[in-house]
Amino acid sequence: MMQLNAQPARDNLKGLILSGGKGTRLRPITHTSAKQLVPVANKPVLFYGIESMVAAGITDIGIIIAPETGDEIREAAGEGSQFGASITYVPQAEPLGLAHAVLTAEEFIGDSSFVMYLGDNLLQGGLVSLTETFKSNSPDALILLTKVPDPEHFGVAELKDGKVVQLAEKPAEPKTDLALVGVYMFTSSIFDAARAIEPSARGELEITDAIQYLVDSGKTVEPHLVEGWWKDTGRLEDMLEANRQVLDGIVHDVQGELIDCTIDGRVLIEKGARLERSVVRGPAVIAAGAKLVDAYVGPYSSIGENVVVERAEIEYSIVLADSTITDLGARMEASLIGKHSKIARTNGMPRTFRMLVGDNCEIGLV
Ligand code: TTP
Repeated sequence: MMQLNAQPARDNLKGLILSGGKGTRLRPITHTSAKQLVPVANKPVLFYGIESMVAAGITDIGIIIAPETGDEIREAAGEGSQFGASITYVPQAEPLGLAHAVLTAEEFIGDSSFVMYLGDNLLQGGLVSLTETFKSNSPDALILLTKVPDPEHFGVAELKDGKVVQLAEKPAEPKTDLALVGVYMFTSSIFDAARAIEPSARGELEITDAIQYLVDSGKTVEPHLVEGWWKDTGRLEDMLEANRQVLDGIVHDVQGELIDCTIDGRVLIEKGARLERSVVRGPAVIAAGAKLVDAYVGPYSSIGENVVVERAEIEYSIVLADSTITDLGARMEASLIGKHSKIARTNGMPRTFRMLVGDNCEIGLV
């Protein structure tokens, strides 16, 4: 039957997670790996987004992937059954902007409404109140906002009478301190908007421009303030901070094998990890297969699978799987160590540094 004045569908929401992009700010990790798979408290950032969609009842999820890192993301998240979801992968040939990513997913989304979630973002409060508000208020778009001390670094929204009236991308003189968080809800009207806009000065189709187009063409765009914390993990310091925030919420559970060790505070040590004459001061997580000998792992550290730490001290850091850290001679902190890395002190003469360092690495020496 033909429907007159058909309203956009707001039930049966779909999910769209953006996990393409260049990841330039997290090089060198992103030379070889997707930043969305960097583990926070030993779980890939991307998985938090998928899980919060499922918790909000959204199980039909599309993931935008880039040619370089798409396979790795497919392998990690699979077809979605581990999350109770069904995942469709949507390749984006080039990272031409968030609104371009939306257009790339048009066939997957169809005429459904959807949550769009940046795959490197973490949102503590989840998506339930956002989706409930979207269903009850029926706007054309609902954008998540949070107050920030430095709005000039974000997309910023100006509100009037409870509606969004103006958006500005990294404005030199922001009119408000309300920054756009990387989570949005759209009806399918966003596709026409994304098609109508032109690339910005940096050559990308900006989602802020597409949302502004909605506002200018008389659509309702509503704000929704974030409950709890939100973190974009696109830079090293943000990744470490996200790790800190998530570790703050972990539950103490020690399953690994401990020999002459001291464990203080909340610590998660997985089965299959082995610790000898070591001190762990939580909150911290140590994954299966990790081996600590005469080591100290301090607060806000995530030690990945099969990592070896011997005669070394680590604090406020993330160490990815299969790396080895031995005989440092000083405490390592605020560091992100990629997979299969080796950091060791050799005591031979002459006393020299020996390094095999990839592009864009940062090394701080004492
Ligand atoms: P950004 O962090 O804004 O961009 P980026 O990943 O290219 O990183 P950088 O600025 O360090 O170079 O992207 C936010 C999220 O959206 C991230 O998960 C990557 C994803 N994304 C896409 O999927 N397609 C795109 O075209 C863009 C620009 C980003």
